[in-house]
Amino acid sequence: MWRVKSLDAILASAEKKSLTRSLGPVQLTLLGVGAIIGTGIFVLTSEAAQKAGPGMMWSFVIAAAVCAVAALCYSEIASMVPVSGSAYTYTYAVMGELLAWMVGWALILEYAVAASAVSVGWSGYFIGLLQSWGISLPHALSVGPYAGGVVNLPALLIALLITGLLMIGTSESARVNAVLVAIKVTALTVFIVLTLPVLKGANFTPFTPNGWFGDGHGAGLGVVGAAASIFFAYVGFDAVSTAAEETKNPQRNVPIGLIASLGICTIFYLLVAAGAIGAIGAQPLVGAGGEVLHAGSSALAAQCATYSSLQEPLVCSREALAHVLRVVGHERIGDFIGIAAFLALPSVILIMLFGQTRIFFVMARDGLLPGFLATIHPKWKTPHIVTMITGVAVAIFAAFLPVGKLADISNSGTLFAFFMVAIAVMILRVTQPERHRPFRTPLIWVIAPLAVIGTLGLFFNLPTESQLVLPIWGAIGLLVYFAYGYRKSHVGRGLTEIHETDDDAPPPPVPPIR
Ligand code: ALA
Repeated sequence: MWRVKSLDAILASAEKKSLTRSLGPVQLTLLGVGAIIGTGIFVLTSEAAQKAGPGMMWSFVIAAAVCAVAALCYSEIASMVPVSGSAYTYTYAVMGELLAWMVGWALILEYAVAASAVSVGWSGYFIGLLQSWGISLPHALSVGPYAGGVVNLPALLIALLITGLLMIGTSESARVNAVLVAIKVTALTVFIVLTLPVLKGANFTPFTPNGWFGDGHGAGLGVVGAAASIFFAYVGFDAVSTAAEETKNPQRNVPIGLIASLGICTIFYLLVAAGAIGAIGAQPLVGAGGEVLHAGSSALAAQCATYSSLQEPLVCSREALAHVLRVVGHERIGDFIGIAAFLALPSVILIMLFGQTRIFFVMARDGLLPGFLATIHPKWKTPHIVTMITGVAVAIFAAFLPVGKLADISNSGTLFAFFMVAIAVMILRVTQPERHRPFRTPLIWVIAPLAVIGTLGLFFNLPTESQLVLPIWGAIGLLVYFAYGYRKSHVGRGLTEIHETDDDAPPPPVPPIR
């Protein structure tokens, strides 16, 4: 189970595919921003407010800093091992099959659960738009049981719709990606321009009502607790690292693309957060006994239900940005923000689901999952079976769980994968110092340990239940591995395959922009 996939064998086969190096810093940045901006800023801003109050501005900075150091480590290894499967493949080459399996298994949590989270986020905006047009969906069909409903039907349907599109081979063209980036950036800019002038200084006090760590009881409260959740708003930047191989002068352009896309998103997020806080306030709601109500809890939902829609505080809104604009009197522009989210969020679901099927596909082709999962449809040329199974699971989670919990669960998997990548980069520097590195992480012995500390720090500030999902999911993964992959592994049977060279391999999660 410690067997590794030989790095030389991987590289030898990968060379055959010779992708052209065509991406420059601007395209890379566009790629990053397209994959990053989504439910995090459009929806989770209200969750972050409930956890940290106005102090969520610090949360955005902390999460961005952890992402920046993790991204620099990720880029080194992505440029050295430029093949699909991302962190799963890197770990396979460095730390062996068992840990690779665990990382791949955690990435399922990252991508699939993130797709569910974004579906629920989309649903909030969709329902808000319908309402503003005078159509109301029964409460039972608008939210899951956590908020007094039965099933979140729009979230279920959008997840199934995107799954269907992926099964028949839809992928997003570079042009569509560029248009969606423009829509998202315009929406956020309009929001900032309209809210900053009506900002009230008084709304910023108290700045950290729940302190930095909340009450310290694993509820994920306080500035750092909110940072662990809002980390979700930055997930997707790994798209830039994985494009390292297609980048001109990667040593220079990959860090530019990473830092620029993270930097641009951080600035937007901070301005949007300041606008939302300043315009309508962001203090957390407390229960009858003065205790802080937990984001996503039914107690919070019950208290939120007592407000009429325009009187709702920020922490209650499921369409935070549109809500803020409506409250400050820009009804129609609020609708515009709603339409922007309605149009742009499905592409984030698509990217996440795409990433998931790609990872499953590689794991199945490595023999760690049953081969039929990687079956390619003769006409659609897609791994339709694994796409369908994943999509149905994503839809079920989206139908019944709240967006914040889903985001937290996704973060736990992502943080684990980034943690492993930071360790792998350090191991490789020691064991294989001579190997060619198209991109070298600067100050590796500072940056990688910071990434390790940062990912661990955020993980342990997630709510306890989201932390627990990782070991439980991991235990299931171990059972599956020893019952199946351990015996069936192709590497274990002396085969090393690189799937880039397979004619029928599905395309990468984010289409390259040329
Ligand atoms: N960062 C992506 C989002 O916020 C996953 O939706």
